[in-house]
Amino acid sequence: MKNITVDSHPFADQKPGTSGLRKKVKQFQQPHYLENFIQSVFNAIRGNDSFAEKALVVGGDGRFYNREAIQIIMKMALVNGFGKLIIGQNGLLSTPAASAVIRKYQAFGGIILSASHNPGGPDADFGIKFNTANGGPANEELTEAIFQHSLSIDRYQMVEAEDIDLSQIGSQQFDKLSVDIIDPVVDYADLMEQLFDFQRIRELLTSANFRMHFDAMNAITGPYAMTILEQKLGAPAGTVLRAEPLPDFGGDHPDPNLAHAQDLHKRLSGDHAADFGAASDGDGDRNMILGANFYVTPSDSLAVLAANATLVPGYKDGLAGVARSMPTSQAVDRVARQLNLPCFETPTGWKFFGNLLDAGKITLCGEESFGTGSNHVREKDGLWAVLFWLNILAVRGESVEDILKQHWDKFGRDYYTRHDYEAVTNDGAELLMTALREKTQTLAGLQLGSYQVESADDFAYTDPVDESISQHQGIRILMRGGSRIIYRLSGTGTEGATLRVYIESHETDINKQSEDPQNALSELIDLASQIAKINHYTGRNKPDVMT
Ligand code: G1P
Ligand code: ZN
Repeated sequence: MKNITVDSHPFADQKPGTSGLRKKVKQFQQPHYLENFIQSVFNAIRGNDSFAEKALVVGGDGRFYNREAIQIIMKMALVNGFGKLIIGQNGLLSTPAASAVIRKYQAFGGIILSASHNPGGPDADFGIKFNTANGGPANEELTEAIFQHSLSIDRYQMVEAEDIDLSQIGSQQFDKLSVDIIDPVVDYADLMEQLFDFQRIRELLTSANFRMHFDAMNAITGPYAMTILEQKLGAPAGTVLRAEPLPDFGGDHPDPNLAHAQDLHKRLSGDHAADFGAASDGDGDRNMILGANFYVTPSDSLAVLAANATLVPGYKDGLAGVARSMPTSQAVDRVARQLNLPCFETPTGWKFFGNLLDAGKITLCGEESFGTGSNHVREKDGLWAVLFWLNILAVRGESVEDILKQHWDKFGRDYYTRHDYEAVTNDGAELLMTALREKTQTLAGLQLGSYQVESADDFAYTDPVDESISQHQGIRILMRGGSRIIYRLSGTGTEGATLRVYIESHETDINKQSEDPQNALSELIDLASQIAKINHYTGRNKPDVMT
């Protein structure tokens, strides 16, 4: 084994986005590209703690290039002074499981290889992110430091050596580096068993009048769902669909929404619909929840979990507080108000929940983008959300639809939709946002159709724990009565820009709570495109995706 220092040159585009560095596989495969970023991570964290004494956790969602990247990271970790790596067998770890493993083994942190719900394969996407010792994504200060290192890097260090076998569980020595290959599922499954009433869920899943399906989308949650749902909880064989993680996710888009989980959707539709359906994404942190002929918005899901949390053993003593990202609907705020809980509004991205969770200010949190989680880890957690729902269904003995309708009766319904304009030009998107930002100053008080603007701004967030400030987190137009229109640009795309428009309004009249959200929100939807001149700046007449 030989230590080598490789001369390199900086790449200008290694700025981590909403969730780590995400690029095309081809870009990552260029000479030095991956290595530069890893070396920048190591340079940025050096000196914070001792590399040699604590472990670094490494794993990913199994997408194309996952294994190659792990071998490179290992060869660099050795020369950079790490003493121990904990790697998921075959390089696999779901994002929430990686977070759980970092916490359980009190690791220094972890490197997660994933581009989440983005497609995989040689022509698709890859990604890397660094998580810190709390199990959560690096904060903005650290991601900025990594970026700065990447801009001036001129060399990196690694060893020249044979690859190691990632398929055998157990400890092995890679020169001075000890490498523990662990079962990727066991620790996570144990944690779920501590939080949820497995006995009751088992009774539900084995009863003749309850049918569920979980769509693992050929991605990482397959092995987790097989172990937990089918083996431990006794769900019938075949409950888990698309259970085998594939490097290209079977050519599909591993994003849990109605468009990409069509078979699941079919099984939850019509006269013979199953009772409960769920799906997770590429790396296992997202979730979609369905009832028979019924779709639960992620914003509503968070509110329902908060309202029913004390039915679940892990949360039986109640919640310290809740948080949602700014564009997520205000449904959970209403629950918090009723339960007298603090409720925080953070910028988009899970990293903003980390401090609140660490400080014990919140127990549950979520995003409209199919993300829900709690203080059990520092990532959103897809299967956790599914088990939470199953626990509630087992205790209440009611259908998903009944639970939602009762919830709306009590709190009102927050009609909600998100419209995405994908792969628009960067220039057009930037001009649109700049124009909107200027417009916010003149909107307050205006009557627009049947809505009056109460205020408009560019959302800025001051972290209540460390007082760090994050600016330009999205344009908000807040109407009297609580309706909102929000605009922001995606920070996770790999092609052009994606404009996201989030629209919501609150309906307290129980007779008006069963409309299609696109109808219920149609006036606001029109206003949203007029105000931002979406067609003018993007050339688009309609969104590519509506959720
Ligand atoms: C998207 C979601 C955001 C989520 C992120 C990572 O980011 O909108 O809520 O945290 O993916 O899963 P965006 O592309 O909007 O920046
Ligand atoms: Zn994900």
